[in-house]
Amino acid sequence: MLDLRSDTITKPTGAMRQAMASAEVGDDQFGEDPTVNLLQERVAELFGKESSLFFPTTTMANQCAIRTLTHPGDEVICTKDAHIVLYEAGGIGANSGAQLQQIGAHGRFTCEEFESNIKGFDFDVNPPTKVVAIENTHNRSGGRIFPYEEITRIATTARERGIASYCDGARIWNAAEASGRTVAELAGPFDLVSACFSKGLGCPAGSVLVGSREVIQRATRYRRMLGGAMRQSGILAAACLHALDHHLEHLHADHKNAKLLAGLLAACPLIELNPESVETNIVIFDLKSPAPGAREVEARAQKLGVSFFAFGPRTIRLVTHRDISTANCEKAAHLILKAIEQ
Ligand SMILES: Cc1ncc(COP(=O)(O)O)c(C=O)c1O
Repeated sequence: MLDLRSDTITKPTGAMRQAMASAEVGDDQFGEDPTVNLLQERVAELFGKESSLFFPTTTMANQCAIRTLTHPGDEVICTKDAHIVLYEAGGIGANSGAQLQQIGAHGRFTCEEFESNIKGFDFDVNPPTKVVAIENTHNRSGGRIFPYEEITRIATTARERGIASYCDGARIWNAAEASGRTVAELAGPFDLVSACFSKGLGCPAGSVLVGSREVIQRATRYRRMLGGAMRQSGILAAACLHALDHHLEHLHADHKNAKLLAGLLAACPLIELNPESVETNIVIFDLKSPAPGAREVEARAQKLGVSFFAFGPRTIRLVTHRDISTANCEKAAHLILKAIEQ
């Protein structure tokens, strides 16, 4: 099966498993896991922040971040169709009691759009805006990168207005690779940033929050509250350290493969796709009439040996990753075309 459902399907390599098996461990809730401590120090340095905190998942890191930066009744302004809106089971309402206001389109918004939505400073019936949250890259819009200049303007305005800034950086590694900027540059403007190890980096689990010592200290309490404080989690942190050393460089190939897939598919008259819009490792396209709907194409492709997700009634998402080669991406494109044209 050529599996293009997600970069989360990547499996740990033999070398990663060895690194995990030989990891030195201790009780991380006592701060005694040397491998977790090493990962947290290394990530903080890499992101140019004072401190970092290890989590099992990015969903939990996102939930913990918003809980740390808000109180019940506060408002979070965020990107339209963000992961925290669509795919975290309503967690922001349940865990933080905060409300989300989605703005912009296609994974982006401008500083002016942000400013015109800020509430609660001159009229106290409004929910006070306490956080501005972006997602870089933005999953739902096809792995788009948030423009750096706009990030700096938004974060500066937020700081001036007493609003915290947060980046869901589940795929910040991809944004860095494709934009030629370091993760430290991309994280620099924000108060808190998450980063995930279990997507393109191929780890079985693991995510981090990075920020100032003071914010990370507050987040540590909420991680515990959410049930995310672990014990001998150095076994997982060892996989993340291994990925930092050996897997980051593969993202370049994932991005090239996504462009290749997009180029092959865009030639089909039944597909609406601009290959120029593909910026990282996610390809999203629409099916034009008389092509069948996305679920039908998904089912047909499955029978031919390719899997992916229907992302809407006539929309399909493909994700490239380290467990699918260039040759298999080409093969997948031909089989997808066959499934559409059948
Ligand atoms: C942008 C974004 N944020 C957060 C997550 C959640 O990551 P996890 O599966 O580690 O909870 C995902 C997962 O796909 C994602 O795409």
